[in-house]
Amino acid sequence: MTFVIGADCVDVLDRACIEECPLDCIFIGERMAYIQPDVCVDCAACEPVCPVEAIHYEDDIPSGQEQFVVENARFFSEPLPGRAAPLGHPGGATVVGAVGVDTDYVREYQR
Ligand code: F3S
Ligand code: F3S
Repeated sequence: MTFVIGADCVDVLDRACIEECPLDCIFIGERMAYIQPDVCVDCAACEPVCPVEAIHYEDDIPSGQEQFVVENARFFSEPLPGRAAPLGHPGGATVVGAVGVDTDYVREYQR
């Protein structure tokens, strides 16, 4: 289990969560941020600082946002559009910098 970022981050991308994560595992796409599920230790430090309450424990994802659990994992486990290899475990998110691309689902998501 892990924390995941849901639909309310899309096109908001406030980034307050990034500074709170002790493992630096919240990555920036283009429209939203994504939590590396293999690195997140469920410390929950990120959850209360999001101004739009977009961060949820995986089991508590709001109804209708279940696909965002899949997309948070897919962002790292499958090649992103325009990339040959998956992002995987690239290191600290703030060191890597903004990835600048979303999964297909998020890119086409209608708020
Ligand atoms: Fe998104 Fe909220 Fe973080 S809007 S970037 S999850 S602070
Ligand atoms: Fe980081 Fe939030 Fe997980 S602070 S370790 S992404 S619960």
